[in-house]
Amino acid sequence: MERTYIMVKPDGVQRKLTGEIIRRFENRGLTLVALKMLTPKRETAEKHYAVHAERPFYGELVDFVTSGPVVAMVWEGKDIVKITRAMIGATKPTEALPGTIRGDFTADMMSNLIHGSDAPEAAEDEIALWFGEGEL
Ligand code: RTP
Ligand code: MG
Repeated sequence: MERTYIMVKPDGVQRKLTGEIIRRFENRGLTLVALKMLTPKRETAEKHYAVHAERPFYGELVDFVTSGPVVAMVWEGKDIVKITRAMIGATKPTEALPGTIRGDFTADMMSNLIHGSDAPEAAEDEIALWFGEGEL
């Protein structure tokens, strides 16, 4: 069964939206298989967003995601990556539709509440980065 890495970012935790986000995924019938709260180490955040290392916002992004506790999760289900990305909504605030998590709760490009893996291969790498074998 396909798995994905989902993370409530520091702004989502601070705004007390963790429960709302989990509720949406559970209501959809998706399966939570692992969950923990932690403040990310800089090294972990840098690896997680390594694909963006050359982008001008990379430093700000790593600062943001290490700025406080996050809720790291693994969710499982058929086509889980596409389904959760659709529920999260687009990165650009002008394209994040109402009914999506970002479209309902944020209009900011950086503080956008939640991360979701964008492909099954990326999900496998991210799950291995954020969770130890004994945690799944
Ligand atoms: P994520 O990886 O966090 O799930 O977000 P995403 O796929 O929707 O967007 P991505 O392009 O991977 O960008 C990662 C995160 O970087 C911040 N960002 N800031 N200022 C900017 O132009 C900008 N662009 C992206 C956002 O926090 C975005 O989610
Ligand atoms: Mg991304």
